Amino acid sequence: MTNFEFRNPTKIIFGKDTIKKIDRNIPKNARVLITYGGESAKKYGTLDKVEKALEGRAIFYFGGIEANPKFETLVKATEYAKENNIDFLLAVGGGSVIDGTKFINLAYNYAGEAKEDLLVPGFAFKNVEKLTQLGVVLTLPATGSEMNDGAVISHGNTKTAIFGKNNFPTFSILDPEITMTLPTTQVANGIIDTFIHVTEQYITFPADAMFQDRTAEGILKSLIEVAHKTLDNPTDYDARANLVWCATMALNGLICAGVPQDWATHMIGHEMTALFGIDHAKTLAIVAPSLWTVRKEQKNAKLLQFATRVWEIKDGTDDEKIDLAIVKTREFFESLGVKTRLSDYDITENDIEKVISNLEQSGMTGMSETGDITLEITKEILKKSL
Ligand code: NZQ
Ligand code: ZN
Repeated sequence: MTNFEFRNPTKIIFGKDTIKKIDRNIPKNARVLITYGGESAKKYGTLDKVEKALEGRAIFYFGGIEANPKFETLVKATEYAKENNIDFLLAVGGGSVIDGTKFINLAYNYAGEAKEDLLVPGFAFKNVEKLTQLGVVLTLPATGSEMNDGAVISHGNTKTAIFGKNNFPTFSILDPEITMTLPTTQVANGIIDTFIHVTEQYITFPADAMFQDRTAEGILKSLIEVAHKTLDNPTDYDARANLVWCATMALNGLICAGVPQDWATHMIGHEMTALFGIDHAKTLAIVAPSLWTVRKEQKNAKLLQFATRVWEIKDGTDDEKIDLAIVKTREFFESLGVKTRLSDYDITENDIEKVISNLEQSGMTGMSETGDITLEITKEILKKSL
């Protein structure tokens, strides 16, 4: 295990009917900007509940933060926040609304005129010290954004992951019942996004980190156990509660502490979303199985551990066990109704060049836990995904 520092300041408020606890967590005299997405938060009554919990405070709304939030939309929201002298941000939504609101927070508190600067990796971390408080009402379990300091922003035909110092939510309300209105495809996305967050921090090379490994395996096994329960019965509270907690714990700094990480699947997937409009999690379901196949040698020990401990494969040679684990994972994703091939989305070999070119422009020329996934290897991974 390598040295690490671990700090996660986000307060989690978990369970049924917890929106009303917002009242105790936002000052009475706060001027609150509620940010939300398209129509779901309004349509299913979440905004009404939030408004009730905020009674007595000055409330402002900014809706229309799209999936894969766009820089231009967020700059508009920032201007609106400035006009109204906001001192508390409250994001009501999934990863896109939460990430978008984290960006609004950075832009709101960045003194410079050119907000594009904040998209340069590392810039926000160095140049924005103090942030406005940000609360979250989570409506979609998937990204872990409700308990981490990352945000992924779309700009032009590319997507950038940015981190801001202290850009963790102050608190997050996790009421599993609010997520029960999600369409099947978004629940499946959430399961797969969470699954891949774990594998990006686990299928690397051994670091003798027993807690991190066993916790990662526990999340993966829990996901496999609750996936169909919650898809087949969306109102099964216990299944949903487990999914929500797994999603949050998968990407809050806990299981990556002191271990190697490989975010190549995510980096490739982000560009596929930017170029072809495929949902974030669906890109991961396409890339991960091929990446593991191409990287079998480098990831051998952890792939074998994944096969034996997560999928409980006992028979065959080590190589056969690994191959079967990859097949089982692909079948698992497909069983959730998510396709795992580029051709399922009419993406051809020519399109692969566009992904490679975007990655090159973003400087993603040496990805993986050891920095050795070149653009050539990425091309090989994508060709395997056809
Ligand atoms: O816009 P509305 O009408 O609200 O509909 C949303 C949206 O269309 C809908 N939805 C959300 N909650 C709902 C609901 N529909 C019915 N009932 C509810 N309770 O779901 C759709 C998708 O929402 P979105 O927020 O885009 O999904 P997700 O949570 O998967 O977020 C994806 C974004 O997060 C980024 C991705 O790149 C992508 O931009 N990520 C952020 C990460 C982070 N901050 O750490 C890490 C992730 O790996 C990821 O990259
Ligand atoms: Zn993700």
